[in-house]
Amino acid sequence: MNPFHYHQGDLYCEDLSLATIARHYDTPCYVYSGAALRERYHSFSNALGDGTQVCYAVKANSNLAVLRLFAEMGAGFDIVSGGELERVLRAGGAAEKIIFSGVGKSADEIRAALSAGIACLNVESAAELWRIADIAADMGLRAPIALRVNPDVDPGTHAYIATGLKESKFGIPMDAARTLYLEAAKHPALELKGIACHIGSQLLNLAPLGEAVTRVRALYADLSAQGLTLEHLDLGGGVGIRYHDENPPSPADYAEVLNQALQGLAVKRAVELGRALVGNAGVLLTRVEYLKDNGSKQFCVVDAAMNDLLRPALYGAWHDILPLRQDAAAGQVMDVVGPICESGDFIAKDRPVRAEAGQLLAIMGAGAYGFAMSSNYNTRPRPPEVLVHGHQHRLIRRRENWDDLMGMELP
Ligand code: LLP
Repeated sequence: MNPFHYHQGDLYCEDLSLATIARHYDTPCYVYSGAALRERYHSFSNALGDGTQVCYAVKANSNLAVLRLFAEMGAGFDIVSGGELERVLRAGGAAEKIIFSGVGKSADEIRAALSAGIACLNVESAAELWRIADIAADMGLRAPIALRVNPDVDPGTHAYIATGLKESKFGIPMDAARTLYLEAAKHPALELKGIACHIGSQLLNLAPLGEAVTRVRALYADLSAQGLTLEHLDLGGGVGIRYHDENPPSPADYAEVLNQALQGLAVKRAVELGRALVGNAGVLLTRVEYLKDNGSKQFCVVDAAMNDLLRPALYGAWHDILPLRQDAAAGQVMDVVGPICESGDFIAKDRPVRAEAGQLLAIMGAGAYGFAMSSNYNTRPRPPEVLVHGHQHRLIRRRENWDDLMGMELP
């Protein structure tokens, strides 16, 4: 399902023209399709079946309305900070479906997670394991934990978002994990729940994931043979999406890879999907401010910038750019850039765009790691976020104002 489509020459989100939204909320503005969010969640949870808890990776898009929508569908949540824990609880997410990942959990974050009663803390080092054990003992609780192992496979994705190679900061090497499980099993304040792994993001080829899951299975079997029976395997997230002309795996392809690697093993599973659930459900609307000709290079200066959408600047990521009016001016090769004072502030390089001053454009595939990675750099208020349902729109975060930007400062 593509919620973004042209209808009589106008780009729509579901049954609403994006130009209407731009008029109502001004630009830049994030727009999400509720139907697309639901459809993606159901496709994955149906393909994966009853034995798998789909956890939404909150970092991809943490707006409370988005979290509430996932909570209502029965999703679990993968969080990486105390702030994300607070968000999920405020949005009505069930604590017993929360998994806490991340290499640097603070003592306060661990305490908050334990008192909320979350499902599992995914532990990323021996030092963190013993800190959790001490805190749980202090609180008179048993901490539910999994070790996040590093399976040492190359996910074949951008270096900044590859996490399962042994030189990355994430996870515990397999052999060290084996020993640590046996030590942890003796600690009265630790409750060993499962094994976790996550090899990277925007995976287009799932073979490395299949390999990682096979390694996790071998560890599970080893531990079982030593009398340590775990309840679940958390296989991470990372399923890629189409930004341009990629051929990402379907939910069925994904389920097939996991099923093959885990054939015949009766153990509960969890996955931590972010981008695949929200990425193509959102766009960033922007307006062309100026066209600029530098002789050798043409620029299309828009009102959205790297503070609103960082992915092109940080990863050289591609986002399609579509005109809101299909029959707009003829295409010309340009750099689409924002107003920020950095040469790295671009949305697209050397792109044939059909644009003229004042025209509205949609930056596609902006539902994941878009608003979530935005900032106030250059003292720019962050854009509003709008959720569409059919022909209705609802503001789910207002545009920031000067007080939001400066009110915390003490001149
Ligand atoms: N689980 C863990 C432990 C993770 O570190 C991540 C993402 C996920 C799940 C969700 O991955 P997803 O299904 O969304 O690929 N800012 C980058 C992506 C960073 C991903 C970080 N970890 C981007 O814009 O491409």
